[in-house]
Order: sequence, then C-alpha cells, then structure tokens
Amino acid sequence: MKTPLHTPVLLDHVLKILCHTEKQIFLDLTFGAGGHTRGLLNCNENSIVYALDRDQNSIELAREMAKEYPNRLFPFHGQFSELKNIFTHKQNFFHGILLDAGTSTMQLNDAKRGFSFRHDGPLDMRMNTKSKSINAYDLVNRLDETALSRIIRLYGEDQRHRKIARCIYQWRSTFGSISTTTQLANVIKVGLGGSASDFDKLNRPIHPATKTFQALRIVVNDELNELYNGLEQAYTLLKPGGTLLCISFHSLEDRIIKRHFQGIVLHADNVSSNLDEKSLSVQAENQVRYHLQTNKITEADDNEIDGNPKARSAKLRYGIKI
Ligand SMILES: C[S@@+](CC[C@H](N)C(=O)[O-])C[C@H]1O[C@@H](n2cnc3c(N)ncnc32)[C@H](O)[C@@H]1O
Repeated sequence: MKTPLHTPVLLDHVLKILCHTEKQIFLDLTFGAGGHTRGLLNCNENSIVYALDRDQNSIELAREMAKEYPNRLFPFHGQFSELKNIFTHKQNFFHGILLDAGTSTMQLNDAKRGFSFRHDGPLDMRMNTKSKSINAYDLVNRLDETALSRIIRLYGEDQRHRKIARCIYQWRSTFGSISTTTQLANVIKVGLGGSASDFDKLNRPIHPATKTFQALRIVVNDELNELYNGLEQAYTLLKPGGTLLCISFHSLEDRIIKRHFQGIVLHADNVSSNLDEKSLSVQAENQVRYHLQTNKITEADDNEIDGNPKARSAKLRYGIKI
C-alpha cells in the first residue's frame, strides 16, 4: 500500500463534528495533502469544499484531487491573512471552516524545504517557496545574539534560549555561517552538552534543537499573526450557525485559538508580541461570538497516536457562530 503523504489527525472527530446529512459548503484553510478535505467530500456526495494553502505543492495536489470531484472541490493558493481578498463575496457563506495548523508531513520530509533536522537540507522553512520573505538562514546568520535569544524564548518557549543563542553566535563568529539543518541542530546539541533534557508524551527524548526549529519556522512564516488574522477573517466568512473547527500542535497556537473562541479580540497589529496574559488584559476586549458546546479539548487516543505519532500533540477545539 502507498504511504500517505500526510495522515490527517483526529479525522473521525472532525467528520463527526462538521458533517451533517444536508449539503454543506466547507472551507478547508489548510489543504496540505487533502486528507480532511477528502473526508468532507466523501461524507456527503453533495457537499462542496473550497480549499486554501500557502504551499504551491499542496495546491497542485488539490488541483489533481479536484478532477476526482468535478465541481465539488475548488483550490486557492494563498494565506490566511489574504482570506478576505480571496473570498470577497463570501461573507456569512460557509457552513463549516477547518483550520489544521502547522506543517504537513510532506513539508517536513522534503529535505530541500529545510523544516526538519531529521533531513539535511538548506535552512529555508518558507511554506510558500515563491514568497520573497526572510528564510531561516537569514535569521540564524544575521540576527545578533540578543535577537536570537528573544525569538527562541518567545516562539520556542525554550528556557535555554540564552545558551542556545550564545552557541549559535559563537559558532558563527569562529567558523562563518551555519547553512544546513543538521549543522544547526549539531551546533545546538553540542552547545547544550549533547543530551536531551526533555521527553515527549511517548517518552521519547526530544532533540535539544526542536524548540529552536519551531521558533525559526514561526518567525519565517509569521505563523502567529497569520493564525490570529485567519481566525478573525474566517469568522466573517462563516454563516451564523456554522462551525469553526481548529486543530493546533503547540501551546502558542492553542492559546490564540482558545482566546478566539473565548471572544478575546486584541487591539494590536502584531499578536506575536502580545502573547503574555499581562499585555493581553490591557489590550483586549471581549466579544462573545461562538457558542461552545464544550470547553474540553479533543485529543487523539492511544490507537491513533500509535499509528501517527504526530497526533500526540494535536488539540481540537470548535465552536458554533452565534
Ligand atoms: C497540518 S498541514 C494540513 C494537513 C491537512 N489537513 C491534510 O489532511 O492533509 C498544514 C497546512 O497548512 C498550510 N498553512 C499553514 N499556515 C498557513 C497559512 N497561514 N495560510 C495558508 N496555509 C497555511 C501549510 O502549508 C500546510 O500545508
């Protein structure tokens, strides 16, 4: 059997929450390899999916899949912050919107995309390879020690941020630039004394560079601002009574999603610098916009985690637009 390009997480839960017996129009904001989209299309033969992704490779997959579902799957290349422009005439239009945050397995496994230290490749990490934005190489080699330390603290939530920034900076000063994923991972590992200090839910050692890689990826793709803007714009596209369902993979994402469902609207252009509770209380206002059937988070069970370890950190929240 062919290995799937990406195994969709919490698929049964997603379908149970989103699929109804009547025809529905969905927006999948994160097509990836289309696992969730396919599930939505298969659960009701009249339903329609509009699918977005900022990664051109995903949109090519979506165009291929669209041939299997004539007039039922409409792919769009773009990012969350462009939603209002892409779907100008689709206010209060969708019955369900799905956002499955983060990176796809295809992105992580493609060495030349530079997302993972498990595959040696150039330090890139741009989800949209056509974008002219900074890449991970620029951050690692151009930022000074204080700026590096700050992003590793804020977006990696790694308490060893100062030590990590220092070892990157010292390595650069002595040997020049750091150009590949494994080179960066080794510089960090050696700098921290070589051993893992944390373990994941499956009790596997976490590589000491994991959180730094997360931080770089978040900054390169402006992921937290994208998520915040995506949620705000998705709200206007959703019909009253429609469902917004979000899956996140780390606490920074989950915090933004949780606040969105709680109705906390930030008065800030840049949510990335407003993640702590103190600044939030000054800059936020409350607007109840969703009916939450449960405050509980849905997580994968052991069965799913056994088959798809990535599911171990997935958290699903959803709400019905009032
Ligand atoms: C976890 S994968 C989605 C997997 C998908 N649900 C599936 O079943 O195959 C996340 C996808 O979201 C895309 N993505 C992340 N941030 C985005 C953004 N701001 N705008 C559009 N797409 C984004 C990524 O390129 C990636 O393909």
